[in-house]
Amino acid sequence: MKADAILAVGIVVAPLVLCAAVAWAQESATKPSAMPVVPLKAASDFESITDQGKRSIALFEEAGKVLQHPRCLNCHPVERSPTQGDDLHPHVPEVAGGPANHGLPGMPCNSCHGKVNSMTLGDTVRSIPGDGHWALAPASMAWQGKSLGEICEQLKDLKRNGNRDLAKISHHMGTDTLVGWAWNPGAGRTPAPGTQKQFGALIDAWIASGAACPKA
Ligand code: HEC
Ligand code: HEC
Repeated sequence: MKADAILAVGIVVAPLVLCAAVAWAQESATKPSAMPVVPLKAASDFESITDQGKRSIALFEEAGKVLQHPRCLNCHPVERSPTQGDDLHPHVPEVAGGPANHGLPGMPCNSCHGKVNSMTLGDTVRSIPGDGHWALAPASMAWQGKSLGEICEQLKDLKRNGNRDLAKISHHMGTDTLVGWAWNPGAGRTPAPGTQKQFGALIDAWIASGAACPKA
């Protein structure tokens, strides 16, 4: 390339690089501090554990990184109101699950939560979460403040898990779109660890190894 051609390219490219750098600096300055994305081990990483019961528990503990992630916990509270953010603060504005977990009459969840995530124009709340089935998990499925062992026992209990056998639990975890939202939570939120597929595979391997639970 001739010297004048290099200079011409430089004149065009340099301001673009500068603009991108300024935009990036502004973006990082206004972004609320998000928690880091934690990696998730693959189900095959546990094959070396020969004791089946121990392998099953280890698989569930790995899946627990997802189950106890704020993206899941915020919708599985003990109180009948959802929470928000990585610190599980009370939902702003104050809302409640109501009679059918879809909100109180007059202010259902879907008056704000659409079928998909929507962007906002602001920096404080950068997006509003969305899904066609947005609702609060029923009280029997509350996970906040519970140990992983307690969550495990409750997940297997037909009386508390919406009458789902293990095959249905596997299907729900691996394919449900509301569960899947946790990996596509909208701008300004940290996604759950790994992918839904990886998480589904951990749950399947946990079931195949006897669905053992950590001590409560
Ligand atoms: C008046 C509007 C409004 C109503 C009604 C509403 N929400 Fe929200 N919700 C929001 C907004 C806005 C956000 C995003 C706030 C943020 O990210 O700081 C949000 C965030 C959330 C989050 C947090 C996601 C996360 O991991 O940070 C959950 C969970 C949630 N809503 C559940 C519900 C449920 C369940 C209902 C119905 C019982 C409901 N919301 C009703 C406006 C609403
Ligand atoms: C927007 C709220 C919301 C989010 C986010 C959410 N859930 Fe749920 N979850 C629900 C609701 C509502 C039900 C009840 C559905 C039913 O019984 O038909 C439910 C039920 C379940 C169940 C079935 C039974 C049981 O024993 O709890 C599982 C498993 C589950 N959720 C897993 C998850 C996981 C894993 C995540 C995060 C990756 C998650 N959920 C995120 C609302 C949510």
